Order: sequence, then C-alpha cells, then structure tokens
Amino acid sequence: MRTHYCGQVTEEFIGQQVEICGWVHRRRDHGGVIFIDLRDREGIAQVVCNPEQKDTFANAEKVRNEYVLKVKGTVQHRPEGTVNPDLPTGKIEIVADAIEILNESEGTPFRIDEHQEIAENTRLKYRYLDLRRPEMSNKMRMRARVNQFLRRFLEDDGFIEVETPFLTKSTPEGARDYLVPSRVHHGNFYALPQSPQIFKQLLMASGMDKYFQIVRCFRDEDLRADRQPEFTQLDIEMSFVDENAVMGLMEDMIRKLFKKALDVDLPNPFPRMTYHESVARFGVDRPDLRIPLELVEVSDLLHDTEFKVFSSPAKDPKGRVAALCVPNGGELSRKDIDEYTKFVGNYGAKGLAYIKVNDADKGRDGLQSPILKFLSDEAVAGILERTKAKTGDLIFFGADRATVVNDALGALRVKLGSDLNMIKGEWSPLWVIDFPMCEYDEKSKRWQALHHPFTSPVSKDPKELKDNPEGLARAYDIVLNGFEIGGGSIRIHDIKMQLEVLKTLGFTEEQAYEQFGHLLSALKHGCPPHGGIAFGIDRLVMLMTGSTSIRDVIAFPKTQSASCPLTQAPAEVSNEQLLELALRKAKLGKTEELELKLNK
Ligand code: AMO
Ligand code: AMP
Repeated sequence: MRTHYCGQVTEEFIGQQVEICGWVHRRRDHGGVIFIDLRDREGIAQVVCNPEQKDTFANAEKVRNEYVLKVKGTVQHRPEGTVNPDLPTGKIEIVADAIEILNESEGTPFRIDEHQEIAENTRLKYRYLDLRRPEMSNKMRMRARVNQFLRRFLEDDGFIEVETPFLTKSTPEGARDYLVPSRVHHGNFYALPQSPQIFKQLLMASGMDKYFQIVRCFRDEDLRADRQPEFTQLDIEMSFVDENAVMGLMEDMIRKLFKKALDVDLPNPFPRMTYHESVARFGVDRPDLRIPLELVEVSDLLHDTEFKVFSSPAKDPKGRVAALCVPNGGELSRKDIDEYTKFVGNYGAKGLAYIKVNDADKGRDGLQSPILKFLSDEAVAGILERTKAKTGDLIFFGADRATVVNDALGALRVKLGSDLNMIKGEWSPLWVIDFPMCEYDEKSKRWQALHHPFTSPVSKDPKELKDNPEGLARAYDIVLNGFEIGGGSIRIHDIKMQLEVLKTLGFTEEQAYEQFGHLLSALKHGCPPHGGIAFGIDRLVMLMTGSTSIRDVIAFPKTQSASCPLTQAPAEVSNEQLLELALRKAKLGKTEELELKLNK
C-alpha cells in the first residue's frame, strides 16, 4: 500500500511522488490550507492539502486525530521559516494529490503524545493506544533488538535453543505456583514453570552441552515495580564448566550487548563482591554501587549503653546496630527526618535515631541528637571515627534484628542516594558471589535454599552440608544499578548430595522422589557436571531503556494486583467449564477464610 514509512521521507525524495500510510497525529486548518501530521512507527511526515485539489481537500476536512490514512503526494521543501530541525522529516512536506481514509477513529481517551502524564490503569486498558506512543514503541523495539542480539551471540557460541514445557510439575524457585487443572485427570493439576530449571538440567543429562531459551516464567508472588507474575528469562545451561567459565562468557555477552545497543563500555572484568560483604556494607545482596553511602557496623561500640534500643540488638548475635553517614545531611529538616523514619518503618524498623554533626572539631559538644545523652564518650568518639563524619553531616542509626536493620538501612541508602542526587556514574555491574547454601526461616522454622535446591555447595561432602547448611554455595548473581538482573550456579550432579540438600530443606527421601524423581533419576544415569544462569530480560531492558518499571517494557503487562485491565483477566468461568474439570467453587468456612487471610 505504501512506498515509504512516514518517518523516512527526507530531502533525498524532493520532487518524487510517494505513498505513505499512517495515523493522523495532528490536523491543523490554516484557513484555506490543511496540514496533517501523519505518523507511523518510523516517525511523522507533514502533509499539505490545498483547496485546489477538491476531493483530497474534502477528505482532509473530514479527518480527525488517529484516523488511518493513505496519502499519495509529491515531496517538496518546506517554505523557509517553517523547517523543523528536530525532525528527520523536518525539511520536507508532502503535497497531497490523493487522500484515502482507511479507517476512522473515535476520540481517544488520551493524546498519543510523548509528554503525557496518563494514569497507568488507563494506559493498560487501552494498551494498543499506549503502544502507539513513540516512547513505548521505541521500548518494544529495544527489547526486540536485545533479544535478537542475545540469541545471535549464543547461537554463534554453539548454544542450542530448546523449548521446554509450560504445562508441567512444580519447579521451585521460592514463589507460589500457578496451577492449571487437568480435564483428563480430574483432581490433578499442572503447574506453570517458575523457571525451566529442572528441564535445562535434564538437557545437560541428554548431552545437549550448551542450551538456551528465551522463555516465559510464572510466579505467583507479591508484585513490585521490578516483578511481574509472568516474566521472561534468558535461560542458559552449560556442561563441563565451572563458575568462571559461566561468569566469563556472560560478562562478555552483556558487555557486547551494551556496546552494540547503547554504545556503552562496561568495565572489564565486572567487579565481584561476596554476599557477606555486600550485606554488611550495603544491607542488600544487590547493591547499587553508584551511591557513595555505606552502612557502618557500630554494634560493638554500643554493648554497654544505657539506651536499650541500642544495647539489646548490639548484644544479640542475631541483632545489629549500624550507622549510615549522610554527607551534608545536616541540611535535612525535622520533617525530612520524620519522613525517612516513616519510610524505614515500611521495612520493620521501629525508629530512626540520628546525630547531626554541627561541628566535627568540637567532638561531643559539636553534636546534636535526642540520643546523645545516652551515649558514652568512647561510643561517640568511636562512631565519629568509623563513620568519618564531617561538619555538616548527619548520621542515621538502625538497631534491631540484623535482617530488619539491613532491609531498612539498605532501602534508606538507595532512597537518600536518589533524593539527594548522590548517584555517581551511569552503569555499575557487579557479580555477587559466595552465597550461603541455606538460610533459616524463622516463620516456617526450616532451612530454605538461598538460590534453589539444585545449587551445588562448595563442599563436596554431603556430611559437611548437613552439619552446616549455611556453608557456601557455588552460586552467583549479576547485579546492575541495584537490580538483580540474573542469577545462577553450578549445580549438583551427584545424587547423594542432591538428596542431602533436599533432606536439609525438610524433604523425606520419599517426598524427594515424589517431587523430583525425574531429576534424581537423571543424576543416576551419567549426568555431567553442569551449571548455568538466567537473566531477567524485562529488568535488563527496563534498565537499558531508562524505565522505572518493568511494566513499561512488557507489551501487555499485569497490574500490581496481577490483573489485566485490557482483557479483564483473571475472569470468571462458566459452570460448564468447571464441571468438565470436576471443579466446584468452595464455600469457605470462617476458619478457612481466616487461614487464607493469614497466609496471604
Ligand atoms: P532466579 O529466580 O534468580 O533464578 O531468576 C532469574 C532472574 O529472573 C528475574 N526475575 C524476575 N523478573 C521479573 N519478575 C519476576 N517475578 C522475576 N523473578 C525473577 C530476575 C532474576 O535474576 N532457575 C534460576 C536460574 C539458574 O539458576 O540458572 C532462576 O530462575 O532478574
Ligand atoms: P525513643 O526512645 O523511642 O523516643 O527513641 C529515641 C530515638 O531513637 C528516636 O529518634 C527514634 O527514632 C530512635 N529509635 C527508636 N527505635 C529505634 C531503632 N530500633 N533503631 C534506630 N533508631 C531507633
């Protein structure tokens, strides 16, 4: 239907006749002459309709925003003074010889424009309109480019793309499963995969050697800006490799991707940091190293203070008292501090003590704080020395169980970094390594795998794992600007070790075989040593496009409550459908309802 995209009609076509198709971006009636900005995915061209062309002009008079047109016309220079240097097509206009209206459009609920603040729910309800906006269409195209680059890189390196099932059995990655009832096997359910983890390991047992897949994963978990119930992984597995082989190749891939897509040179090699160092210094295992703020341990200085809020966690082996010194934080008002106190409250912190350093040379007398009176001279001197606080700074304190302090101050660090414009540099990739195998979950009173149950411990002796479930794992996460964009590990290929890990996590041998019999059997039939990784494509593209939510790089995402305003999913189904599946909606008793609420 067309000879060119609107956005491609530049000066080189002056004097030529072209045919373009697209949407009416804007129509301006200049008393006698009508201008139409016609838009397609490549950009906008200006169409001029003169009244001498009677039929054409009559059509031009009819069109409204977002009508779909086909325009035949001749390219000419724009008159002097009307050139738009910001547009590739800004020097030309197309004088219309014929305009065909291909479709009309009702008034749209929002303008298709770059610079619109539109409620997200409305954008999602009319996603097809939202995606017409150049900003969004550019994000989709960047995503496609990223996928294509990754696919080509891996294919060139000898990886084989294999598709694994969606209707499958639980693949534990720490979230709840989405279940699909079986019509043929009443009472039985498929689980949608949380990741292809077990299948990719089976592919290594099959001798595939190097596998990848760009694959949808499903996790029923609490949603946030960087989490969706269905999301896409670049999933990778390799045989006969160690950590360095996987990490080295993946670094090379990400570096080349950034060079190609964004012309950015990432560091070579990426820095590495242990899990323990990361948590101690930044409160999290995915630190944004562009923010020059660090948690400083002060527990040992505060054992004997009469301020119980500090001394109890300081003495408790599971507690922590940490300080966070904010350069020039003295400028924060009482109201600001109250806001930050509320903010850390979201992470379970019961307060946010602080000391303002009005004059560092005056020692204790130069400080201002409601808690100063409780602190000994030694404690104050120690705090000032360790935090290296200077005149004008402010020191925040977190005191609680270590996990609460880490969560609260870790999040506060990021918030302060952005509120106070402290972020230095653009890109900060990092490997986090040396994770513990398991962590103890106080709620369920059980050990839980920090990665997943198939990650290999560093120790080759199952007995050592039994004695110390917190021993190191051969796992690695890749972090970019404070987001975990990927994670992986060297896997267990020895059945005895696999059974020991499952036992540590609370499975009996019988339960282990019932749930993971297919994997355990493969381990018994000559499974090679193997390892891999999976990247979160949505998060990666979110960062690469400067978006603040992964929803902006997913064509048809879900809301924070896992629903889709466009299709109205999830939706009720008919009684016939339920009957076919031998399902009936449960009438919950009071105790069951309470139980559901508590489990939420
Ligand atoms: P993991 O659970 O760390 O590892 O997932 C890998 C990466 O997937 C992304 N991701 C998500 N992105 C959006 N929404 C979500 N709900 C979500 N959950 C995870 C993250 C994360 O780093 N099978 C292992 C990988 C392996 O060991 O090879 C796995 O799935 O960017
Ligand atoms: P209070 O004695 O509760 O009035 O608290 C005195 C100061 O300590 C206030 O600035 C509180 O915000 C702060 N505070 C209270 N609990 C904690 C805590 N767990 N961690 C850090 N600061 C706290």
